[in-house]
Amino acid sequence: MTQLLKGKKGIIFGALDEQSIAWKVAQHAHAEGAVFVLTNAPIAMRMGEINKLAEQCNSSIIPADATSDEDLTKLFTEAQTILGGKLDFVLHSIGMSPNVRKAKPYTDLNYDFFHKTLDVSAMSLHRVLQSAYKLDALNDWASVVALTYIAAQRTFPDYSDMAEAKAMLESIARSFGFHYGKAKKVRVNTISQSPTWTTAGSGVPGFKEFFNYADTMAPLGNASADDCAKYVLSLFSDYTRMVTMQNLFHDGGFSMMGINASLVAPKAE
Ligand code: NAI
Repeated sequence: MTQLLKGKKGIIFGALDEQSIAWKVAQHAHAEGAVFVLTNAPIAMRMGEINKLAEQCNSSIIPADATSDEDLTKLFTEAQTILGGKLDFVLHSIGMSPNVRKAKPYTDLNYDFFHKTLDVSAMSLHRVLQSAYKLDALNDWASVVALTYIAAQRTFPDYSDMAEAKAMLESIARSFGFHYGKAKKVRVNTISQSPTWTTAGSGVPGFKEFFNYADTMAPLGNASADDCAKYVLSLFSDYTRMVTMQNLFHDGGFSMMGINASLVAPKAE
């Protein structure tokens, strides 16, 4: 059988543990014939979990803090050497809010933390794209995908300043998508994923309620990390060459719903 990503080279950011969406993307991409470098923040590699994935996928690991231009330049340079040429895909699967971690209420945000949220979760996409652009590290028609959440468009109070970060992330995908598209036909899209049980996801207060609400509201239920990985692969493939600058909902239909009777308590007569 032909493999969807045979001959494609890339970088996958954000595989922390087996729950991570990036972890599933790496496993599926490997099964579909891609070769890639795995990367994460040096601090996230302390537990050594990523080594297991690298072994499974026959991949090298290059640590990089996505808020460091120096680290990113080194990453893109070394990845091309290891993989033997320019890259065809990049997954940005990165998110972190110190305000959420420290349970700061939205009406009492710490602004140093807020800066950090935006730098790690949104500006990092610009840094990744700008590093690749300046080094001319991507092949024509390469595909860059970043993961986002519907709190960019609608209010989910517990998502806190991550909502602002996701709005910025989606905007960067559109803006850079224009420039990279004009220059090199490179596609840049975001996938807006259902709530998913991962370290980042379950760190949001009230996550269980988010998850169950969306699962009941969506006609197909919540999309799993595994299904998300498959969708990411379709965007890395040549079957989606004309898709760019989009925010694509991968949520079992949740984003289009108004009401679902399953969520409404019956009216008292
Ligand atoms: P995760 O916790 O497994 O992944 C987040 C990753 O970000 C981790 O690997 C972490 O080490 C990395 N990271 C944090 N700071 C970094 C830095 N400075 N430099 C490089 N990497 C850094 O959780 P998950 O859920 O797989 O998250 C992946 C993406 O999916 C995130 O953008 C998240 O916001 C998004 N997403 C998650 C949803 C969920 O419910 N889990 C729903 C919609 C989107």
